[in-house]
Amino acid sequence: MKNYSIALLPGDGIGPEVSAEAVKVVEAAGERHSFKVEWVKYPFGAAHYNKTGEILPASALDEMGKCDAMLLGAVGDPSVKPGILERGILLTLRFHFDQYINLRPARSFQSVPCPVPLKDGSVIDSVVVRENTEDFYMGIGAVSENGRFDAPFEAKRGLYDVAGHLKADFSCEFPAALQIGALTRPGIERVTRYAFDLAKKRGEDKVTLASKANAVPFLYGFLDEETKRVAEEYQEISLKIQNVDAMCYQLARTPAAYGVILCPNLFGDIVSDLLSALTGGLGLGAGGNIGDKLSMFEPVHGSAPDIVGTGKANPLAAIISASMMLDHIGESAGAKAIDAAVSSYLSGDASEKPIELGGNHTCQAAGDGVARKIV
Ligand code: NAD
Ligand code: IPM
Ligand code: MN
Repeated sequence: MKNYSIALLPGDGIGPEVSAEAVKVVEAAGERHSFKVEWVKYPFGAAHYNKTGEILPASALDEMGKCDAMLLGAVGDPSVKPGILERGILLTLRFHFDQYINLRPARSFQSVPCPVPLKDGSVIDSVVVRENTEDFYMGIGAVSENGRFDAPFEAKRGLYDVAGHLKADFSCEFPAALQIGALTRPGIERVTRYAFDLAKKRGEDKVTLASKANAVPFLYGFLDEETKRVAEEYQEISLKIQNVDAMCYQLARTPAAYGVILCPNLFGDIVSDLLSALTGGLGLGAGGNIGDKLSMFEPVHGSAPDIVGTGKANPLAAIISASMMLDHIGESAGAKAIDAAVSSYLSGDASEKPIELGGNHTCQAAGDGVARKIV
């Protein structure tokens, strides 16, 4: 019997609701497939912050680093200024553990309709490989009071530290904001190789890069050139560079035409919500933040404060994220069992589906429904 130690951060809003169902399903898979999980639970999120002022202490990061993986619900709450918890917890975890890949598969499920018509018999089977540490997520920027910027900055990443000084004067004295994006050769190389290796594994001959060199030439022109250089290492797989606006247009019309989609951080964030909608809803969008240290698995969606406590939260995204986590730690039989249970659950009676998908199953009922299907 293998034992795993998994850090569990339920977080805010529907985070605790959906992660409880993911835990339930992992436990059911463990019983059938002979593994045990010790959950190391963390309280971080809005309630903890509002009570104690603490966001995510360094001691917790050290402790989490000793776990085999991490499962996260969602963070962010209307009672806390946007960014404090999202950057302070979620992005800090991604950067601290250098989780440079954000892997977000999007697949059609039988009996979950796509909101746009798919050409006869075709299905969505794509995966977003989102760079997870750079781009406009560097956190470098400032707001000026009177058009004048004069502020130091620093950011630490697994690959490098960067420090400098923002200095700029606008000719008028109005309030203004500046935020800098950064991309580096090694940052682009590692995510590009991951995307191409994944395409190879999936037996595909193409990777599509979401870019925007026409309007943002320094950042995304560099991205295009560096990605092309890495793509040359792969003779059997071609690189298609597409402007992200055109990609969104095509995704909404012919989503089944896409396989591996490589994205810089910000476009990957947006494209993955769009793909979740195309497969049936955010409650189906699963993801993993993957790196060479602790990897962290979490749904694409957020804390959905508009439906918290109503039972409307669909836990399948969290459940599929937990399956990705099991696969990552080597419990592939458990992972396959969860994926099969989700498919089997979704092909059941039309009313016995999560509320998001038009059924009458609350979050808990949906978790129970999947857990019962585990074999
Ligand atoms: P959101 O993803 O929380 O919600 C968007 C819409 O989708 C809402 O209408 C919501 O009800 C619905 N939805 C989301 N998940 C669902 C599910 N599992 N089942 C059914 N419906 C679901 O995005 P938002 O409203 O922009 O953000 C709310 C908060 O979450 C903010 O504080 C934001 O910063 C945070 N956030 C956190 C994460 C994360 O922790 N990974 C991700 C995105 C947003
Ligand atoms: C996501 C979220 C986060 C992101 C936010 C909450 C910082 O939207 O995981 O997709 O932008 O990466
Ligand atoms: Mn997002």
